[in-house]
Amino acid sequence: MIRLEQVTKRYGETIAVNGLSLEIGEGEVCVLIGPSGCGKTTTLRMINRLIEPTAGHIFINGQNTASIEADKLRLSIGYAIQSVGLFPHMTVSDNIAVVPRLLHWEKSRIARRVEELLELVGLNPAEYARKHPAQLSGGEAQRIGVARALAADPPIMLMDEPFGAVDPLTRERLQAQFIQIQQKVKKTIVLVTHDLDEAIRLADRIAIMESGRLVQYDTPEVILARPANKFVRDFVGADRALKRLSRVSIKDFITPAITVNVNLPVKEAIASTQGYRWLWVEDDDRRLIGWVDGNTLAHSASIKEAMDEGEASEIALSDRATLREALSRMLGLGFKHIPIVDDGQRLIGEVALGDIEAATTEGEG
Ligand SMILES: Nc1ncnc2c1ncn2[C@@H]1O[C@H](COP(=O)(O)OP(=O)(O)OP(=O)(O)O)[C@@H](O)[C@H]1O
Ligand SMILES: [Mg+2]
Repeated sequence: MIRLEQVTKRYGETIAVNGLSLEIGEGEVCVLIGPSGCGKTTTLRMINRLIEPTAGHIFINGQNTASIEADKLRLSIGYAIQSVGLFPHMTVSDNIAVVPRLLHWEKSRIARRVEELLELVGLNPAEYARKHPAQLSGGEAQRIGVARALAADPPIMLMDEPFGAVDPLTRERLQAQFIQIQQKVKKTIVLVTHDLDEAIRLADRIAIMESGRLVQYDTPEVILARPANKFVRDFVGADRALKRLSRVSIKDFITPAITVNVNLPVKEAIASTQGYRWLWVEDDDRRLIGWVDGNTLAHSASIKEAMDEGEASEIALSDRATLREALSRMLGLGFKHIPIVDDGQRLIGEVALGDIEAATTEGEG
């Protein structure tokens, strides 16, 4: 889909990008990462010809971009930048509509598209369409920036630190949303970030750059398991085994667990432990409401008396979570097991700390 061949950009003595070759497949998310000044933004802007390479070639679908009119090229490539770059005097709706208007879409089609995109990025059109950028929070503005880049449904998106200007919590929500949206729209995306955790979470492949050169280009799993050299090893850090966990779904680590209804007589509950040391407790609607261990239960008059209460939303995870989330939940709660529930907060099973430890040592090297 996108192919860079020996691309170089010089500014006098400075070599911003140095002989970079890179291939990005259709529907893939490629994340460019590396220290400040290593040439990430320059690379991105050469793809849509905001910057012309000094040497080398860039191909999109096999076509040399040098042979495509720059303005035309840019209309077919969505571009979201760190500072968001919304036009301050235009409403949210007009900001999103910029490219469709340039493409002379019909008014009704533009209106429909704006509404669809606001919904896609999780902002209520009735509430947000008429606002001005100054009336938005940082995270909202970034989402509008992403909506605007998506407006004309370009097959390619270039995103320069799209979630850079927001607090860590908002950032995590935007990342989760990015993953959801990308599953729906399947764009070919080149995304720049400073944040390795973000790269690991979002990328199909990560391109690590140092002083204008590509040092390693691989899946997050391979980069974490087998850093190409000391630079990458230092860059990904000593906790790369932990980082790798955020790429692993808990789905394969769920083991059976038992729930009992909170009103079950103690004797029956004990009979149903089947050798498990504790039971998860559910209410009459089968929602998880706590847990009880076998010993305490044996000395209690009722489950209610013996149980520790815990809201499913606080102690449990959905089966869409990653091992990293499971681990951080366990560390936060001091549990060696955490329950996994479905969207109705009913128990599916549990995940054990021991199994996560085993996963971190697998494939170490
Ligand atoms: N217009 C320019 N004139 C001269 N040098 C430039 C110009 N643009 C970029 N550079 C230099 O090229 C190098 C790469 O810049 P670039 O903006 O691509 O870095 P980056 O990886 O995006 O950094 P950051 O993470 O800080 O955004 C830097 O050393 C920068 O100083
Ligand atoms: Mg930059």
